Amino acid sequence: MHIAILAGDGIGPEIMDQALRVLDALNLPDLKLSPALVGGVAYHAVGHPLPDDTLSLCKEADAILFGAVGDPSCDALERHLRPEQAILGLRSALGLFANLRPAKMLTALSDMSALKAEVAAEIDLLIVRELNGDVYFGDKGMRTTDTGLREGYDIMSYNEDEVRRIAHVAFKAAQVRGGKLCSVDKANVLETSQLWRDVVIETSAQYPDVALEHMYVDNAAMQLVKSPGQFDVVVTGNLFGDILSDQASMCVGSIGLLASASLGEGTCGLYEPIHGSAPDIAGQGIANPCAMILSAAMMLRHSFGLEEEAQKIEQAVAAILDNGILGADLGGQHNCQQIGDAIIQELV
Ligand code: NAD
Ligand code: IPM
Ligand code: MN
Repeated sequence: MHIAILAGDGIGPEIMDQALRVLDALNLPDLKLSPALVGGVAYHAVGHPLPDDTLSLCKEADAILFGAVGDPSCDALERHLRPEQAILGLRSALGLFANLRPAKMLTALSDMSALKAEVAAEIDLLIVRELNGDVYFGDKGMRTTDTGLREGYDIMSYNEDEVRRIAHVAFKAAQVRGGKLCSVDKANVLETSQLWRDVVIETSAQYPDVALEHMYVDNAAMQLVKSPGQFDVVVTGNLFGDILSDQASMCVGSIGLLASASLGEGTCGLYEPIHGSAPDIAGQGIANPCAMILSAAMMLRHSFGLEEEAQKIEQAVAAILDNGILGADLGGQHNCQQIGDAIIQELV
């Protein structure tokens, strides 16, 4: 089990330390960890956010554990040198097109949801976000209009193969969950979304056991706070999935809780929290490491088939939250290290 460890920027190294301590506590045999530079730290050290060495390591590794990238001191760089290009570059270079972002309400945290406790209580959903296409990867640039105005543009597109493969992932996920799939698009306005909807409907013929519905993204954002319990699996494009998953995180209490797995046709998966480098709290030791630690659990499950160990971590995280071991993001006093300590104590 060769794992590339990319801690990155801001709170990335703080939360990664705790995830590595948790993995260590499991005493897994045959674990090889290879740390490498990524993001703003890589730019500052070697002039590129995704150095060749890091990319080659990731291509060789069995899995990638990724902290976060993003550094305000890099925000004025040319786009291809910004830290965020590292994660986009990895997703693209490794063909990681399927991003799984689960969100489940833990009873102990129901008062921490941004929603009323009784509304939030029902949340148990999985966002399947397409990760290799959409407006993220289309032609983009700055130009000048005929009248001399500066104009920015980003082309949104999906081809049918890209939609079909993510649809299959989502239907399969629904089959082993609650059997419901909600496809989120903006087909009332966007041609990209019309194709998305057509292809999802075509694909549904192969999954008669899954109940499919379609929802416009504006309504989905509203339904997610009105009655989030209606959702089982949600499948959507790259941009809508980015936004809806941050929203879902506050519905279950904090963005510091949501993990993700990015999978492709190859065998290497990338595992990262859905949040970013949180520059506003970086260096203070107060970040919530749960999303990072739960991402390591997803890695054990999806890359290494270690379901039992994955569940052990998930149960330990649930237990400490249940015991009131909460960070500042959840109204508590515990710091990053103390949360890590408590999880490890549950494990051993
Ligand atoms: P963010 O997710 O980093 O932070 C948003 C808010 O949530 C902040 O107030 C932050 O303090 C808080 N937060 C996030 N994670 C937390 C945690 N684990 N514990 C406690 N609080 C937490 O989003 P942002 O501020 O919009 O972006 C900051 C930087 O991160 C930007 O450069 C952005 O591009 C980048 N980013 C990277 C990723 C990634 O690496 N995959 C994801 C999102 C944003
Ligand atoms: C995420 C992040 C990234 C995205 C950024 C940092 C490129 O917001 O992983 O959710 O937009 O995909
Ligand atoms: Mn995001």
